[in-house]
Amino acid sequence: MLIDGFGRVATDLRVSLTDKCNLRCTYCMPAEGLDWLPKPQLLTDDEVVRLVRVGVELLGIQEVRYTGGEPLLRRGLVDIVRRTTALTPRPQVSLTTNGLGLAKLAAPLHEAGLDRVNVSLDTLDRDTFQKLSHRDRLADVLTGLTAAADAGLVPVKVNTVLMRGINDADAVPLLAYCLERGYELRFIEQMPLDAQHGWRRDDMITADEILDMLSPVYDLVPDGPSVRGSAPAETFVVDGGPARVGIIGSVTRPFCGACDRVRLTADGQIRNCLFAREESNLRDVMRAGISDAELADRWRAAVAGKRAGHGIDDPSFLQPARPMSAIGG
Ligand code: 5AD
Ligand code: SF4
Repeated sequence: MLIDGFGRVATDLRVSLTDKCNLRCTYCMPAEGLDWLPKPQLLTDDEVVRLVRVGVELLGIQEVRYTGGEPLLRRGLVDIVRRTTALTPRPQVSLTTNGLGLAKLAAPLHEAGLDRVNVSLDTLDRDTFQKLSHRDRLADVLTGLTAAADAGLVPVKVNTVLMRGINDADAVPLLAYCLERGYELRFIEQMPLDAQHGWRRDDMITADEILDMLSPVYDLVPDGPSVRGSAPAETFVVDGGPARVGIIGSVTRPFCGACDRVRLTADGQIRNCLFAREESNLRDVMRAGISDAELADRWRAAVAGKRAGHGIDDPSFLQPARPMSAIGG
């Protein structure tokens, strides 16, 4: 098991397959001038699959989510997914994507055993999309969403980050769009993970604000007894159900106490938190020839030292040196 000093057990592995992306969302990347990881530093497909196998077979990983950057840009993706779903015990396998390229890849990914996709969609307005992502590709994202649903990657989940003055008018239209099509929408508070370190607390649209925007239009009832114990609910039944909407207060309502995640970067570093300041290099020891059992030991040690929480609201908070695109969502 991967257990930390606070008794939390990590069962959900997020694997970044590339730090590259074909969009430039402002909360993630600068418009230009971000250096990519050099190819020799990236894990090969075989190295990715070996580490995931060690996680699943020796360390109790039950869920594997491939992320980026944009994971659909990774050439070997379908094969990596196929080899992941062939592991025993079979993990749940999902993908977080910007949707570009799903039109082509949704069916092969489903055939390879992929269970689900999360598609990032922050607006339905073409100009806002272009302003936010620096590319004119909204239509391709919407086509990708349809393709995912048609291929059976259901329920299709949609992730939205709202930013003040940019797409804060889009909450209601986005929920209407997703309800109409049976997509599950989740709003996520913007976290300080952009490469250019431009996050400002005042620009973040909080979970409370999102609730205030949706409540006049939709009847929202907190979903069941919260698995978060005494923490505020983060999923709501919409208009009597069965549809639900998520409002994830990553910053104002942190769920670090219930965190079950661990991350593997595209260059083979274990991070025990999005906001970790240390990483554990499994790539180099793997390339030096250590055994699966030794890899598992190093991985356990990396998780054991996980901090209690991200402390974004704490004055001493330091943004991680690496941006989201190099860590994985
Ligand atoms: N804060 C919150 N969510 C983010 N994402 C990317 N960057 C941030 C950030 N700074 C989301 C994207 C995507 C997933 C990988 O994480 O919307 O859905
Ligand atoms: Fe690309 Fe995702 Fe970052 Fe947007 S948030 S630039 S889609 S990696």
